[in-house]
Amino acid sequence: MTPEQFLELAIVLPEPLLLVTNEGQVLATNQAVADMLTLRRQELQGKTLFDLATQPASDIIKYLQACSTSRAMILGSLTLRKNDGQTLICRTQGAVIQPWSPESSALILLRLENRTLASNNFVLLNQKIDELGKEVQKRKQAELELQKANEELEIRVEERTTALQKTLNELQLTQTQLIQAEKMSSLGQMVAGIAHEVNNPVSFIYGNLHHAHKYTQDLLKLIEIYQQICQDPPLEIQKQIEEIDLSFLIEDITKLFESMTAGTQRIQEIVKSLRNFSRLDEAELKQVNIHEGIESTLMILDHRLQAKHDCPEIKVIKKYGQLPNVTCYPGQLNQVFMNILANAIDALEKSAVAGQWSAANSKTTDKPQIQITTELIDKKWIAITIADNGFGIDEQVRSKLFDPFFTTKPVGKGTGLGLSISYQIIVEKHGGQLNCFSTPGKGAEFLIKIPVNLQQLSFA
Ligand SMILES: Nc1ncnc2c1ncn2[C@@H]1O[C@H](COP(=O)(O)OP(=O)(O)OP(=O)(O)O)[C@@H](O)[C@H]1O
Ligand SMILES: [Mg+2]
Repeated sequence: MTPEQFLELAIVLPEPLLLVTNEGQVLATNQAVADMLTLRRQELQGKTLFDLATQPASDIIKYLQACSTSRAMILGSLTLRKNDGQTLICRTQGAVIQPWSPESSALILLRLENRTLASNNFVLLNQKIDELGKEVQKRKQAELELQKANEELEIRVEERTTALQKTLNELQLTQTQLIQAEKMSSLGQMVAGIAHEVNNPVSFIYGNLHHAHKYTQDLLKLIEIYQQICQDPPLEIQKQIEEIDLSFLIEDITKLFESMTAGTQRIQEIVKSLRNFSRLDEAELKQVNIHEGIESTLMILDHRLQAKHDCPEIKVIKKYGQLPNVTCYPGQLNQVFMNILANAIDALEKSAVAGQWSAANSKTTDKPQIQITTELIDKKWIAITIADNGFGIDEQVRSKLFDPFFTTKPVGKGTGLGLSISYQIIVEKHGGQLNCFSTPGKGAEFLIKIPVNLQQLSFA
C-alpha cells in the first residue's frame, strides 16, 4: 500500500490512523489524527513517531519491530504530545501491511485510540457486561423458580395421584366388602330363613312326640289288660293280633319313639347350628364359644365333606384346646372359618381329581383331611389353625393370597374375595393376625390369632 492508497482509504474512516515505517517514519495520517493532536495535517508531514511520542525511541522501535514481524494485530501504547503541550495517552493497534525487504522498510498501519475514551468505552462495556450478568442472573433465578415451581407441581401431582390411588383402593376395598357382605348376608338370611321354617314344625313334632308316646303306652297298657281279662279272644281279634305281629309291635314301638325323639333332637341341634352360623342378630361385639362357631360352620359344609364319586370322604380332625369365651364379632368370625374351610375342601377335591388319593397311587398313605386346632396362647390371645393335606400353595400364589379378586379357580367358581375379606375381618376388625404356611404338594395351613377380649385390646 502506498501512502496515497492509504490516504484514500483512511480519509473516510473516523478513527485516527497512521501509516508508519518500521523505523518510525510517519508516511501518512488521516484528519482524525490531526484533530486528536490539535494539529493541522500538513504539520504532521515529515514527522517521525519519536517527534510525536514522549516515550524513549528504543521502546517505540521495539514496538514497531514487533508489529512488522507478526501477522497478528499488536497492541501497544503511545503517549503523544498535543499542540497545546498536553499529553495524550493512546492505545495502539499495529498491523504490518507490507513486510520488510532489503529494498524497502516494512509499512505498518497504526490505529490510535484515546485511552480515556477507551476507558469510558471500557466502563460502558463493563456496565453492559454487568447488566448482562444481572440479566443472566435474573433469568437463572427465574429458571430456578420455574424449576422449583415445576418440582412443586410435580410433587403436588404425585400427592394428588397417591391420594386418588388411595381413594380408589379404599373404594375397591369397600366394594369387595360390600360384595362379600352381600354374599354372606344372603347366605346368612337363607340359612336363618331355613332354620326358622324348619324350627316351627320340628318343635311341633318334638312337643307332640312326648304325648304320642304316652298315649301309645296307655293304649298298650289297655291291650295288656284286655289280654289278661280276655285270655281267649274271638277269632277275628286273634287273626288281627297275628297279622300285626302284636308282640313285635309292642317291642318295636318304644324303639321307634326313641329314634323319633333322637331324630327330632338332631334336627333341633342342626337348626341351632344354622342359627348360630348366621348370627344375623349379632353385628355387635359378643362373648362367644369359638368352638360352637367352628362346629356350626362345619355343619353347613357337612355335605361337602361326604364321599363323592370323584373324592373320598374328607376327614375332619379336631384338636380343640381349653378356650375361654372370646369377645368378638361372631357372625364375621364364622365367615372367616367358612372361607378357609371352603378353600381347604376345594383344594382337597382338586387333589382328589388329580388322583392324589386314588388306589392306583402307590405313594398314597393318608386320606384327604382337615385338621382344626385351637389353643390358648396366653391370657390374652387364642390361636385357631386350619390345615389341609391338599396340593398346597406355591410361593407365587402365596404372595397374592390376600389380594382382593385374586383367584386361581375357574371363572364362575371363585371370586377371589374369600381370603381378602377374611384378612380384613381378622386383622382390621379384630386386631389379630392371619398367616398362611404351606409346603407345596403337602398341604396348606392357615393360622388365625385373635385377642380373647377385643375391647381390652383396643383400650390398652
Ligand atoms: N387351602 C388352600 N390350598 C390351596 N390353595 C389355596 C387354599 N386356600 C386358598 N388358596 C388359593 O388362594 C386363592 C384365593 O383364595 P380366596 O378364598 O381369596 O378366593 P377363591 O377361593 O379363589 O374365591 P372365593 O371368593 O370364592 O373364596 C384361591 O384361588 C387358591 O388358589
Ligand atoms: Mg375362597
